[in-house]
Amino acid sequence: MALPTSHFSKALIEKSYDKVALRYLDWTSQYPSPREQYLRKLLALLPERGDSRVLELGCGAGIPCTKLLIEHGCEVVANDISSEQLGLVRQNLGSSDGKLDLIKGDMMELEFRPGSFDAVVAFYSIIHLPRTEQNILLSRMQGWLKHGGHILINLGTTDVAEDFREAWLGEGMYWSGFDTEGNKNMVLGAGFEILEGEVISQREEEDKVVPFLWVLGKKGLEAKEQM
Ligand SMILES: C[S@@+](CC[C@H](N)C(=O)[O-])C[C@H]1O[C@@H](n2cnc3c(N)ncnc32)[C@H](O)[C@@H]1O
Repeated sequence: MALPTSHFSKALIEKSYDKVALRYLDWTSQYPSPREQYLRKLLALLPERGDSRVLELGCGAGIPCTKLLIEHGCEVVANDISSEQLGLVRQNLGSSDGKLDLIKGDMMELEFRPGSFDAVVAFYSIIHLPRTEQNILLSRMQGWLKHGGHILINLGTTDVAEDFREAWLGEGMYWSGFDTEGNKNMVLGAGFEILEGEVISQREEEDKVVPFLWVLGKKGLEAKEQM
């Protein structure tokens, strides 16, 4: 039987983020995001300082989120599909005294033992997966977490199977997702309790505001089989 091939969007996303890595960092630095506010809420829930292991999916340049996790004393495994983005993480954070492990590649290709992490976070990155993969990823995240572990993610609010743009920050880009209710159901269906699920509209340009669903969740008592 033929193995499933990678979705066409992966090569596009990798190539585009390799090109726009610095542009993206510069652009997002201009507009406020609730990332840090939510990350501080998560950090308050984690085990004692210096004693927690966090997986970050689609870490970008590592600023501000990976940096904040490291500063808080977490051991971080940070993943991104773009080698340019990971190059920026290395420039920005160095080896972080051995507290940072970088993994290049599609987050759908990652494998970890069950119960490996206290938290899994993903900011503006799951939205780049085809939504059929988002469902699978959420279940895998559940399996990678320790009992009582947390997720902090943001998702879109629009039901769209495939959203492709030719020139996002000048390059081609792909997104996919469910609407707010669909996303909440996906999170619940993967075995998480939703501690906070809030739609926040954020400014992306002077005349453009985009809503995202922010989810702070906790692994439920019912352990699900990893997919
Ligand atoms: C919008 S950026 C967000 C970066 C960072 N999380 C932040 O908040 O600034 C999305 C990031 O996800 C990465 N990404 C997209 N699809 C991915 C995939 N399938 N696997 C791993 N990383 C991916 C991109 O390379 C990019 O760095």
